[in-house]
Amino acid sequence: MTLLDPYFRLRPNGETAFSVEGNAIKFGPGVLTEIGGDAKAFGLRRVLLVTDSRIRGLPLFQTAHDALTGAGVEVVVFDEVVVEPTDTAISRAAQAAIEAGVDGFVSLGGGSVMDTAKAANLLSTWPAPFLDYVNAPLGRALPPPGPLKPHIACTTTFGTAAETTGIAIFDLAEKGVKTGILGRALRPSLGVADPLALDYLPIPVLASNGFDVLSHAIESYTARPFTARARPDASSPRPQNQGANPFSSLACLEAIRLTARNLERAIGDSTDRDARAALMFAGLLAGIGFGNSGNHLPHALSYPVAHHVRQWRAEGWPQDHALIPHGIAVALNAPASFRHAGPTAPQRFQDVLHALGGASAGEAGEAVASEFIRLMRNTGLPSGLAAVGYGAADVQLLAAEAFEQKRLIDNAPSPVTVDDLEQIYRSALRYW
Ligand SMILES: [Fe+2]
Repeated sequence: MTLLDPYFRLRPNGETAFSVEGNAIKFGPGVLTEIGGDAKAFGLRRVLLVTDSRIRGLPLFQTAHDALTGAGVEVVVFDEVVVEPTDTAISRAAQAAIEAGVDGFVSLGGGSVMDTAKAANLLSTWPAPFLDYVNAPLGRALPPPGPLKPHIACTTTFGTAAETTGIAIFDLAEKGVKTGILGRALRPSLGVADPLALDYLPIPVLASNGFDVLSHAIESYTARPFTARARPDASSPRPQNQGANPFSSLACLEAIRLTARNLERAIGDSTDRDARAALMFAGLLAGIGFGNSGNHLPHALSYPVAHHVRQWRAEGWPQDHALIPHGIAVALNAPASFRHAGPTAPQRFQDVLHALGGASAGEAGEAVASEFIRLMRNTGLPSGLAAVGYGAADVQLLAAEAFEQKRLIDNAPSPVTVDDLEQIYRSALRYW
């Protein structure tokens, strides 16, 4: 028997069901002006408004602030969020929440801001040593003892889908590694996506995030089928990275279609609000997709690439330190990963190619890679890992570290070895 698609063929002792989880979401121009009423509906009287110094200087900060105070909600501002937050920065936000005695959180910003608010909510509501909550094996991955405070997550960007996920990513300073806290309790109570907030998003950031969205959608659509996992005990919940399933596939295909049709338009014309709104909705859809399915190779391979950056600086980001933005790190590994994975999920990649609007010729994974590379070239992305400072001598180290991303590696459409990862990195050095 299959469930809705031959890709979801039921197997002996395999999983037979998938679950769909998500939070409440509001999408539309102007929804940021409604958050005061939203906060009241959650019974909030005093909130910590979590943001960063850049956002605080923008008119949209005033919009959010006025919306809250206008509804009679007291606001305490915490604007010390840093890009790529550390555990220390998160602890500071948690401390601010405790000192301010807030009964809820409103975050206004990108992934770093929303993730900081999620983790600060956890640590201030249920204080415990930081590592108690951090993902194993670095931490103990303990679930919170009870519910968290309400959190309204207002995104000022798109792509991370942090407003929809129960994931907070940060750098663990003492160990020098990127890790996270993962748990359903962390999912914001309400995600607010106002396309007008994207008026302030610089074009390079928009491009990077657009590729992140496209890769989320392709990865989640081509992830191993949920039916390939062993069936869990009746008592244990299904993992968030349960594999591709009929629901996430639906969201992902539309996200691919919308991104392919609007990315170049949005990058080419910074006043094209329609294209930006379409990308924001695609980001939400892809977020729902990967939140219920999971990413795989391009994301697994992106983390060591971002971590070991030497000199490269990205246009549109602070120039005081080397940085490969997340979306670019993902995009650089995506075509090579799709080439590798294509033959193991041919029909899935054929569907992706169709959603991209690409002509079907030859092997589908290869054709998807070509379409992806074409978009990269047309939008000014680096031409491969060599263009951001990596060479053949780095491949072994990168592959060994990427292989440690078990949760993502296991979600690839078929099993991969360290040798496979080395081959993918080599093929990602230069695309044109
Ligand atoms: Fe991503």
